[in-house]
Amino acid sequence: MSHTVKIVEVGPRDGLQNEKQPVDVATKLGLIERLVAAGVRHIEAASFVSPKWVPQMAGSAEVMQSVVRGGGVVYSALTPNLQGLEAAIAAGCDEVAVFGAASESFSQRNINCSIRESLERFRTVLEVAAAHSLPVRGYVSCVLGCPYEGPIAPEKVAEVAYMMREMGCHEISLGDTIGRGHPASTRRMLDACLLKLPAAQLAGHFHDTYGMAIANTVAALDMGLRTFDSSVSGLGGCPYAVGASGNVATEDVVYLLDGLGYETGIDLAKLVEAGAFISAALGRATASRVARAMAGTPSA
Ligand code: HMG
Ligand code: MG
Repeated sequence: MSHTVKIVEVGPRDGLQNEKQPVDVATKLGLIERLVAAGVRHIEAASFVSPKWVPQMAGSAEVMQSVVRGGGVVYSALTPNLQGLEAAIAAGCDEVAVFGAASESFSQRNINCSIRESLERFRTVLEVAAAHSLPVRGYVSCVLGCPYEGPIAPEKVAEVAYMMREMGCHEISLGDTIGRGHPASTRRMLDACLLKLPAAQLAGHFHDTYGMAIANTVAALDMGLRTFDSSVSGLGGCPYAVGASGNVATEDVVYLLDGLGYETGIDLAKLVEAGAFISAALGRATASRVARAMAGTPSA
């Protein structure tokens, strides 16, 4: 089994989308530049959603047009519909992502439509993306619980993931949007998904609300997953999942993977510098325990 792990850095998107204070384009670009210098090669840098729904992502076109290309870095963005896809294509995205949910209530609150309607929408997005040879990632949210419905059946997660894969998503990211999962529920959910999809097409996307994200990552690694989404400095949260905290910190995931002997291509010390840059820009301490330990600062 592969000893290489792909890290998808979602800090500039999932991390910053929920910030109350404005984060200017120069700061976002400064963060992205430092992530690239640390060896990160997959960066979700933008989100072409309605600025009325997520104001913080309003500068996405400028971010995407200004990032320095090359070095094998893949820049991706969220695209909920054709309007978003057209904006992403115009801005020069290398990859786009559609985002659905395993919970009806969350789907309604987050993208204003039912799961079935969302999948119809995504099909059109995938058709147009294919015509532009643009790879599409699929997200399934609320895979380990919904802020409105509570527990979510693993089979429902597997069904939505399978449908996204069947319509052409090359990778399905399984989102514990509210960070309520633990290794046992992670294993149950993955057992259901792995009946329908190979581990190589699945990614773990853990939020750390209950402090279980690293444990869930280990559970998913043990089940064969080799792609993980994370956010430098543990930034983030979803505006439509109140109370949910940030993604698992990339620094913590890289420390874990280094220790287990997996290759990520990421330099931990430089990654910590990227985290320090964005934490200083936001005026708050990092949520990464590893970054705090390396700086000699005790965890909160
Ligand atoms: P809607 O109101 O149903 O859309 O929203 P509509 O098609 O009726 O259009 C209404 C207005 O929005 C129109 O403008 C459109 O032009 C505009 P108006 O005529 O009123 O001025 N509009 C757009 N503008 C810019 N870009 C677009 C776009 N589409 C329509 N793409 C919509 C539907 C999907 C647009 C809305 O619900 C939305 O933007 N939702 C995004 C919510 C979001 O971004 N949530 C956070 C990301 S998901 C997440 O964080 C979870 C994840 O990390 C995984 C996990 O942790 O689980 C991925
Ligand atoms: Mg998320």
